[in-house]
Parts: sequence; C-alpha cells; structure tokens
Amino acid sequence: MNDELWMRKAIELARQGEGYILHQPYSSLLLVSGDDVLFAWALDGHESLDEALNRQSIKQRGVLYLPYEPEMIPKLLLWILHSGVIRIEISVLNTLTPTQFVRWCEENKIEVHVGLLSIEGHQLNEVYLHNSKSNFPYITLSFGMSLDGKIATVTGDSKYISGPESRDFVHQLRNKHQAILVGINTILIDHPKLTTRLDGTYSRDPERIILDSNLQISLDEPLLHQKSKAGTIIITRADSNQAKKTSLRSMKVRIIEIEDKRKPLNLLEALTKLKAMGVGSILVEGGGTIHFSFIKERLFNRLFATISPIIIGGELAKTAVSGKGFATLNEAVKLDFIKITKMGQDYVLEAIQKQEDIAILEEK
Ligand SMILES: NC(=O)c1ccc[n+]([C@@H]2O[C@H](COP(=O)([O-])OP(=O)(O)OC[C@H]3O[C@@H](n4cnc5c(N)ncnc54)[C@H](OP(=O)(O)O)[C@@H]3O)[C@@H](O)[C@H]2O)c1
Repeated sequence: MNDELWMRKAIELARQGEGYILHQPYSSLLLVSGDDVLFAWALDGHESLDEALNRQSIKQRGVLYLPYEPEMIPKLLLWILHSGVIRIEISVLNTLTPTQFVRWCEENKIEVHVGLLSIEGHQLNEVYLHNSKSNFPYITLSFGMSLDGKIATVTGDSKYISGPESRDFVHQLRNKHQAILVGINTILIDHPKLTTRLDGTYSRDPERIILDSNLQISLDEPLLHQKSKAGTIIITRADSNQAKKTSLRSMKVRIIEIEDKRKPLNLLEALTKLKAMGVGSILVEGGGTIHFSFIKERLFNRLFATISPIIIGGELAKTAVSGKGFATLNEAVKLDFIKITKMGQDYVLEAIQKQEDIAILEEK
C-alpha cells in the first residue's frame, strides 16, 4: 500500500468519531511499517489517547499518518520520540496552532510532510474548520421529495415519501449534527420526534430547534415530553407570549428571543445566538418555507436532496423549497452537484453552493 492509501485508512479511522465528537477535530493515529499496522487509534469516545499510548511500546520503524495536525501533548511527543517513527504524514494543519507540531518534528529531526489527501482531510473536518472561522454554525439542508419536487401531498400526508435506506441515511446525518432545525408548521402538521433512530449502533439525539415566531407550539406537543438526552430550543420573537415562555422554560425548553421585529424571524441573529450557545452544526429538515429562508440568505454549507420514484402532483401540495421564490434565474442560488448515491429505490443528491456564493456566506 502507498502513502495515499494509508492516509485514506487513517481518515476512515478518524470518521469513527462521527456522532461522538462535537467540539474537537476528528483525529486518528496510524503507524505503519510496510504492509503492517503497528498502532492504530481514533478519537471516538472508546479509548482516550492517554490509554492508547500506554497500550504498547513500538520498537519497529514506521510511518505515522495523521489526518489532522495534533496538539503538543507531552505524552504523544515522548511516544513519537521513543517509538520507531521515522516519517510523519499530516493531511491538514491545526487551525489553532498551525505548524507548531510540524516545527517540533523538524527540530527533532523527524521527516514530516503536510498536505497528503488534503481535500479528503478538509472534508473530514469541515464542520470543525468552518466553526473555527465563522460566527454561524455549519448548516446542512436535507429534504426528501417526490420526483416532482413535493414534500407532502395536498392533504399534508408525508409519511413516507423516501424509502427505508435513505431515511436511515437521514438518521446518520442527524447523528453527525449537533442540532436539528424545523419550522413550526412541520411541528403542527407532522408532530415529529426529531430523534436519531439508527439500528444497532450508538446514536446521539441532536438538540431540537424550532423556529416559531408567535409561540404557536402546544405545551402538550409530544416532542416536548419524549424521553431524550437532547433538549429543545425554541426561537421566537422577543415580544411573543411571555406567560407561555415561562411555562416552556419550566419544562426545560430553552428560548432564544429575536430582537429584530421584521418578518420572518431574522436568521442571522438566530444563528449568531445559537453559535454563541455552543451549537456548532445544524441539520435543517424543513419544511419548504424554512428551506427557502436559508437558501435565500445563502446560509448553508451542504445540501442533500433525496429524490424518490413517486409523483404526487397538485398545485397546492408542499414543495421542497417554497417561500416567495426568486423572481429571476439570475437571483436563483446556483449549486454544484458533488455526489449522487443510489439508496434503495431513491437517489440522494449532494450539492454545495458555487464558489462565488460561498464567498458571500463567509463575508456575512
Ligand atoms: N419530506 C420532507 O423532507 C419534509 C420535511 C419536513 C417537513 N415536511 C412537510 O413540510 C410541511 C411544512 O412545511 P411549511 O413550508 O408549511 O412550513 P415550515 O417550513 O415547517 O414552517 C414555516 C413556518 O416557520 C416559521 N418561521 C419562523 N422563522 C422563519 C424564517 N426565518 N423563515 C421561514 N419561516 C419561519 C413561520 O411561521 P411563524 O411566522 O408563525 O413563525 C413559517 O410559516 C409539512 O406538510 C411537512 O409534512 C416534509
């Protein structure tokens, strides 16, 4: 196997942290000699780095593959010096202390290279890297629609347009994001749980966020009473029903008040407040009105559209993206497809904004 293949393995290993690791970069250590793995560890909540370094002493000479430049942890540095590391390959530099570890390697006469599979390394840690430079959480939009772009029938029937495989994929997305966000109509019509339900594997519920300007949510809404380690955050206007806010707070619901009186709720203010509360990534899961607001403001990093082989029709049936829409094609948000995956009966299309639009997002 060559360097690229080993780094790919190290990146796969680091992905084991998805769903466990929220505020740190996904990291792994893979020490290899020829075709033999001498040492492997990932930050995935099972074994701490400290425990792993106590596990075994390495005498054989090998190459160390690191998807993310590590912190200057004394025990790790000693381990590197005393095991047979002859070369280190790093995919992406640490954003907090760039090149500090690289310089330490050079001072200790250990050959070190940076940038191997850097695109894949950045993809691995894109949420962490986004959060280190943005005032907003990382945003993923996700919707499941019929071939004709509907997310529900004219009577509001929406369970289920997507097949079981792509629904499972959405639960994997929930597992990877810190929070899930929907509009109040989705709550009032669907009464969703917004939990993560993955068979057989650890799954962490995301924090539930509801955009509800006028506090229409019922105090009896099942989602507020279900068993879940994650909490609920309601974003509402500063002047909405104060007594209801008090009742919700007594039920441990956190309330974010938006001072801006304009309609709809100011997303920039909401997202800045969520980021300040420590929310680093959000999966936006509808409905169409909410999707349009995020798309109009270009407030998303990635989009997953699941297309199912069913035609629903109906002028009044809800579409995946509704709101006022754009008046001209010139204003419409342009995307690049980056991946199309067949999942059971469905296709999942993954897209990002064109580069010039990403520049607009970063300026905000
Ligand atoms: N297939 C899928 O993937 C999927 C997923 C989710 C939902 N759905 C379907 O979508 C339908 C609901 O969609 P919907 O478009 O009617 O409603 P929605 O997007 O769920 O909620 C829209 C409401 O959110 C509130 N809101 C607060 N801040 C907002 C902002 N900045 N921008 C936009 N809205 C804001 C507004 O009500 P206030 O002004 O009162 O706050 C608005 O009317 C349901 O039928 C549901 O089944 C399908």
